[in-house]
Amino acid sequence: MTTSAEPVRPGPLAARPVVHRPVPALPRLLRLPGVYRPQEDTALLASAIGDLAIPDGARALDLCTGTGAQAVTLAARGAETVLAVDLSRRALASVRLNALSRGLRIHPCRGDLATAVRQGPFDVVVANPPYVPCPAPTVRATRGWDAGGDGRAVLDPLCTAADTLLRPGGTMLIVHSALSDVDRSLTLLATRGLRASVVRRARIPFGPVLSGRTEFLEAAGLIEPGQRVEELVVLRADR
Ligand SMILES: C[S@@+](CC[C@H](N)C(=O)[O-])C[C@H]1O[C@@H](n2cnc3c(N)ncnc32)[C@H](O)[C@@H]1O
Repeated sequence: MTTSAEPVRPGPLAARPVVHRPVPALPRLLRLPGVYRPQEDTALLASAIGDLAIPDGARALDLCTGTGAQAVTLAARGAETVLAVDLSRRALASVRLNALSRGLRIHPCRGDLATAVRQGPFDVVVANPPYVPCPAPTVRATRGWDAGGDGRAVLDPLCTAADTLLRPGGTMLIVHSALSDVDRSLTLLATRGLRASVVRRARIPFGPVLSGRTEFLEAAGLIEPGQRVEELVVLRADR
């Protein structure tokens, strides 16, 4: 795992040596069928939350909460109010169970970015949104990860709304794959007047979803021929 102190390494990903950087273990979470299974991106974002100074009385948002992994981390780190937003009813039921079993106060809320904006602003916003480029329209079964041809169906509106979601002095953390254009996220966040940088990186082998669409990714120029490793990044944006 790298930090913001480490320079961005140039050159195509496929040409770089493969280093599997372990991401920290996650707490055990209850998960109803169909809810996104916490994985490397979940753990990478949770580890970056560990670096945040959570102010007293903080209002926090976990957008695209899934099992509530990040909401649990935020509440455990002392955020006073944690709103956990997701489109999926099963995700929200999972969040309730995970909060109850830990005695944590988390408010599950069914909705999307617009729902979160209506309930803002927040001191801390974290998001592990769908970000995987996909050749076909997103369907219910894949909406946990698929995000349009360039992977930015949720990322673009999220970055564009970042200043609205955050109070002055607030911080946002977003995790996504380098396949879905890190520079675009950084540029959009900067356009909204935020200081944005990459604070975590991890390289992981393709899982079943990416392995099943290498032809599309190569044809779209999103990966180098033969590339079978992706880089995950966590972006931090401060208002
Ligand atoms: C990649 S999973 C992340 C889950 C969890 N936060 C984690 O870190 O493991 C993305 C989640 O976003 C939800 N989702 C997809 N599109 C959404 C949208 N437009 N607004 C809110 N939630 C959405 C999915 O139901 C899924 O639970």
